[in-house]
Amino acid sequence: MDLIRTAADLRATADGWRAAGASIGLVPTMGALHAGHRSLIQRARSECDRVVASIFVNPLQFGPGEDLATYPRDEAADLAVTERDGVDLVWAPPVGEVYPPGVDLPAPDPGPVGQTFEGAARPGHFEGVLKVVHRLFDLTGPSAAYFGEKDTQQLFLVRRMAVAEPGLGVTIVACPTVREASGLALSSRNARLAPEERQQASCLFLALTEAAEHARAGERDAQVLVALMAREIGGTTLARLDYAAVVDEATFTRAATIDAPSRAIVAARFPGARLIDNLLLPTPGE
Ligand code: PAJ
Repeated sequence: MDLIRTAADLRATADGWRAAGASIGLVPTMGALHAGHRSLIQRARSECDRVVASIFVNPLQFGPGEDLATYPRDEAADLAVTERDGVDLVWAPPVGEVYPPGVDLPAPDPGPVGQTFEGAARPGHFEGVLKVVHRLFDLTGPSAAYFGEKDTQQLFLVRRMAVAEPGLGVTIVACPTVREASGLALSSRNARLAPEERQQASCLFLALTEAAEHARAGERDAQVLVALMAREIGGTTLARLDYAAVVDEATFTRAATIDAPSRAIVAARFPGARLIDNLLLPTPGE
């Protein structure tokens, strides 16, 4: 496994692989790798000739009051994981290699969807995400890039960026959310939850499954599902509901009725961490 820190070396290695006819799968991460990240890496490994994983805590996607300084970092452990899962190249650059001083990099516009939900809670977040992901695509030239459904709004916006720019030549592959037995979606930030918070953190998944059960039973009114989710999370003592919503899967805008593929999305703040989760709603009888 190669460990590369400069943009020039990443580009040169990837160019060489492409020239030799190899397909490249890219897995962008911020490190602190867990089984969720590993599921992306393993999918890429099974589908591509070469697998590149990036480990970069992107300062642009963190707001002023957020946890950039304390975001969990453990490069040695991450490299052991990527090695074990058969990654060919890890790119773990310093900030100056991603954002070279004085260079005006493309800044894809997240548009109105980028200002809602996670974008409303975290102003500038998706501008930062799209800028770094575009930079990664540009340097690596992947034929496929792997993203988790856990961050469904991010996935939506990255996919829309890739579709809007066919010259990137990348297909976005969505990978299912990996969960603990309690239903809690794995996240690097879960480590910050005190034992009691962690126990209560499954309220996000409980709320989503409750909404899904009602949708399966025929409930079509999004407001009813939203109220159910808000009650579940609102009734959890250590959680503060940020939002609960049902969005149309094709547009990521609020749905009034469930008459097209729709997704329930939730966010809640615990004392130790802010958590998000989501679930595709089944159609009646599904
Ligand atoms: P990070 O939070 O490290 O996540 C990297 C990738 O792993 C994302 O595509 C995310 O959706 C996926 N992932 C995280 N938890 C998961 C889980 N429980 N199950 C399945 N997939 C999971 O998302 C980012 O980093 C950054 O925004 C990034 C895309 C790297 C840009 O900086």
